Amino acid sequence: MVIIAIESSCDETSAAIIKDDKLLANIIATQEIHHKYGGVVPELASRAHQQNLIPVIHQAIKEAKIQKSDINAVSFTRGPGLLGALLVGTSFAKSFAQGLDVPLIEVNHMEAHVLAHFINEPRPDFPFLCLTISGGHTQLVRVDAPTNMTVIGETIDDAVGEAFDKSAKLLGLDYPGGPLIDKYAKEGNPDAFELPNTNVPELNYSFSGIKTGIRTFLIKNLRNNEQFIQENMNDICASIQKKFVDMLFKKLLKAAKQEGIKNIAIAGGVAANSEVRNRLKSVGVEQGWETFIPKFEYCTDNAAMIAMAAKYKFDKKEFVDQSISADPRMKIGS
Ligand code: KG4
Ligand code: ZN
Repeated sequence: MVIIAIESSCDETSAAIIKDDKLLANIIATQEIHHKYGGVVPELASRAHQQNLIPVIHQAIKEAKIQKSDINAVSFTRGPGLLGALLVGTSFAKSFAQGLDVPLIEVNHMEAHVLAHFINEPRPDFPFLCLTISGGHTQLVRVDAPTNMTVIGETIDDAVGEAFDKSAKLLGLDYPGGPLIDKYAKEGNPDAFELPNTNVPELNYSFSGIKTGIRTFLIKNLRNNEQFIQENMNDICASIQKKFVDMLFKKLLKAAKQEGIKNIAIAGGVAANSEVRNRLKSVGVEQGWETFIPKFEYCTDNAAMIAMAAKYKFDKKEFVDQSISADPRMKIGS
């Protein structure tokens, strides 16, 4: 059983090929064009997907050493994501499936982030909790089976990756700023600065208040010292990073207790953050959790995770027809 997967929800154009449950290729073209604008420009993302998609698919087929005629199903990210970007992958996948006369499989991008844990060993046992943290989402997901997931908490405003990127922008750092905050934080004191707290009920998150708090904190200090940011970059980054990670883990701990689950996973681009990874390991030891972190290349957007999610749908013969369209607000479980 050979499935090709296409991912085009944001600023990564990716194609992957899976045979049974073995990944044969995972090609990713990252769109550099957005860097100079300080964020993803939707129209430019769509155009870049149009340019990159066919070369990326060719490369995946070549690397997997298969023929187009070997493909048994075409899968694609239906949502959530940027509408124009999703449309490029969706339209291509529909035509490709029709041309090859094989079934078409839709995949939810957020479910795929969770299922990235099944690309390689060790794979978590069910049920497990997954904290999915990316530039677009912050979700706590209870996973009972590959095709049975429930969101038990999520951000009510900004995603944590967005908060990292916007904080970095306030510090004059390039986009995406998350990895840069991580880099400077390594040399800084996480307790150097006290940042404000935000309180959100239950298992939900809010990152927009803290972003405003960081802005106010910077303005206040810049008034006394114009060089405040340059002189304290490492300590500021370490303090911001600690605050975000504290917020993430407060609710993760609460969720684990509430659900009585000790298999804990993280996924999404922010799972690449070194403090998130260290904290998961240390809290995991303290709580007796079994913890799971995907390989770095499966944390950020990629089509391998789409292929993995499609495999489970293929097994259940969950196919869609040509009337399907992109769904930028697609929800888990829909
Ligand atoms: O999952 P992803 O590649 O794309 C989305 O679906 O959003 O996540 C990208 C996000 C960006 O906000 C980026 O700044 C953040 O992940 N990120 C990090 C790190 N690496 C990527 N944030 C903090 N520390 C990192 N090391
Ligand atoms: Zn993503």
